[in-house]
Amino acid sequence: MSILENKINELVKEDIRLASFFQNEKIDFCCNGHRLVGEVLEEKGVDKDAFLLKLENYAHNLENEGEKEDFFKDMDDEELIGHIRVKHHLYTRGVLKELDQYVSSIVKAHYRHDKNLLLEINRLYGSLRTELLEHLIKEEVDLFPLIIEGNFKEASAQILETEKEHDAAGHILQELRRVTNEYTLPAWACETFRAVYHHLEALESDLFRHIFLENSVLFERVLSAK
Ligand SMILES: [Fe+2]
Ligand SMILES: [Fe+2]
Repeated sequence: MSILENKINELVKEDIRLASFFQNEKIDFCCNGHRLVGEVLEEKGVDKDAFLLKLENYAHNLENEGEKEDFFKDMDDEELIGHIRVKHHLYTRGVLKELDQYVSSIVKAHYRHDKNLLLEINRLYGSLRTELLEHLIKEEVDLFPLIIEGNFKEASAQILETEKEHDAAGHILQELRRVTNEYTLPAWACETFRAVYHHLEALESDLFRHIFLENSVLFERVLSAK
């Protein structure tokens, strides 16, 4: 079977390090990871041969960097949930705490330089923050315990809503990329402004992997077992 006939998330499941490749190519592997590689390339008008060559080179270089990362395959649901909480939920809360301070500082310091940009960043960051903090606590208190208890029927009913929240966060991140012109720093950017762009991009990368582990690994297991 050609790679083009694979689902994007199946390739990432084989080795999560491929997530960076898809991210660089601006191919959504988390919220829309269930789509076929070939179908997405066609839609984006990307040359398939050139793409496959790039992917092959990328995968080849990864081989030189040691073991492939499919650690989640050996984890049971509870272990995977523990991993998601420690690796991704803690990180998300920590980075939001820093961004809270930095975003309000840059709005004050740079409003005069580019009012529209600062207001857009403030608004979108505010929505992302609210969305994510509510999302994390809902997973931790409502959804994850159901999965650990093995109550897959009730868990499945909540998964649909949870995936919609992932999409919503993904859309806000897309908007942030658009208004910041792919996080291109303005000439007047200070260190705090740089830190805001840096943290937003880091949060985006982490969130893509986080959502991938939930939608394409954990939730898929629950939905297929109910
Ligand atoms: Fe999560
Ligand atoms: Fe989530």
